[in-house]
Amino acid sequence: MTTTIPVAGGAFAPYEVVVGRGLLKAAGAEVAALKPTRAFIVSDETVAAIHGETVRASLAAEGLATGLVTVPAGEASKSFEQLEAVLDRLLAEGLDRKSMVVALGGGVVGDLAGLAAALFMRGIDFVQVPTTLLAQVDSSVGGKTAIDTPRGKNLIGAFHQPRRVLADIEALATLPMRQVRSGWAEVLKHGLICDAAFFDWLGNEGAAGAQGDPDALERAVIRSVEIKAQIVGEDEKEAGRRALLNLGHTFGHALEAELAFGETLTHGEAVALGCAMAFRYSAQQGLCAASEAERAEAGIRAAGLPTRLSDVEHTFAADALIARMAGDKKAEGGRLTLILARAVGDVFTDKNVDAEAVRAFLIEEGAA
Ligand SMILES: NC(=O)c1ccc[n+]([C@@H]2O[C@H](COP(=O)([O-])OP(=O)(O)OC[C@H]3O[C@@H](n4cnc5c(N)ncnc54)[C@H](O)[C@@H]3O)[C@@H](O)[C@H]2O)c1
Ligand SMILES: [Zn+2]
Repeated sequence: MTTTIPVAGGAFAPYEVVVGRGLLKAAGAEVAALKPTRAFIVSDETVAAIHGETVRASLAAEGLATGLVTVPAGEASKSFEQLEAVLDRLLAEGLDRKSMVVALGGGVVGDLAGLAAALFMRGIDFVQVPTTLLAQVDSSVGGKTAIDTPRGKNLIGAFHQPRRVLADIEALATLPMRQVRSGWAEVLKHGLICDAAFFDWLGNEGAAGAQGDPDALERAVIRSVEIKAQIVGEDEKEAGRRALLNLGHTFGHALEAELAFGETLTHGEAVALGCAMAFRYSAQQGLCAASEAERAEAGIRAAGLPTRLSDVEHTFAADALIARMAGDKKAEGGRLTLILARAVGDVFTDKNVDAEAVRAFLIEEGAA
């Protein structure tokens, strides 16, 4: 049984996200149906060792000429160096304009392979085969691709939508539990943005998904992709509504940056904590009821994710966090842009948040 979710909007060719079990084995038939001249897998060393042969054999069984290039696992592979290495390999293998890139892995592989596909011969098709929960519910859908530079993350990239996304729930069985929980944070975020009933389910009956239960995971991935697909369909280039997907990310990114993007907090853990903070700040400002901030926190805690600065072994400085939140924009006139909440399932963008008020809030939260 698979579920198919359409992604359609203004400027891009519509495509579908398929969620289900056994999709790695079915990748060959799914890709062959798109009629590429050949298909080439881009993966990382960890994922290729676990799932590479399943996908390669499936492509070969459909008579597709295929091959595989790997990069080291980890964020450091979102680099010019690895982008060049992947592109050079595609050229060396003689891929043409009708060839297809198959991105097999987490968000790192999806972002890197997607950008390589966007650039190769001015753009060839690619299929996303996301193997982390984060990639299934977030990075594989929406067409953002990028690499990092020493000056910042995701600064070099392109919009390049995939032709199809194959999200195999069974692929998540080998994912370390901390990675599952981290992806769960983005699932919770989607509920917090626009589906209160889904969020409450995630915190109660669905909570087993955060521990890897495949049935709960499948339902969570399906609803999460529906929400992301709808938002991306309305606003591909982030002119408006797509910015809501940044809920928890301004606080979260500041925490990650202060920790030098180390092991203390994963991205998902930082986002979970950032979502709880965005709700508490909203409650403190009288924008939402205190009970809604408590409801948000309870759902996040049910997954074993952090919701308080005191959950992190680090003393954050309020001024440093504010500087990170303001980013390069130097907090124009002491103003920040934040996604704030009226209730669980009802959030909005505020481009005129008083940095001083946030600073006072951070100190109340335990920052120095
Ligand atoms: N394009 C977008 O819209 C978008 C959105 C969100 C995040 N991102 C990007 O996604 C990246 C993070 O993605 P991620 O969290 O998937 O990280 P990741 O790709 O680094 O994967 C995490 C780790 O899990 C391993 N792994 C992957 N699948 C596995 C499996 N099935 N079994 C065992 N191990 C497996 C990987 O080798 C890696 O070590 C960041 O670079 C971020 O910028 C992009
Ligand atoms: Zn995120």
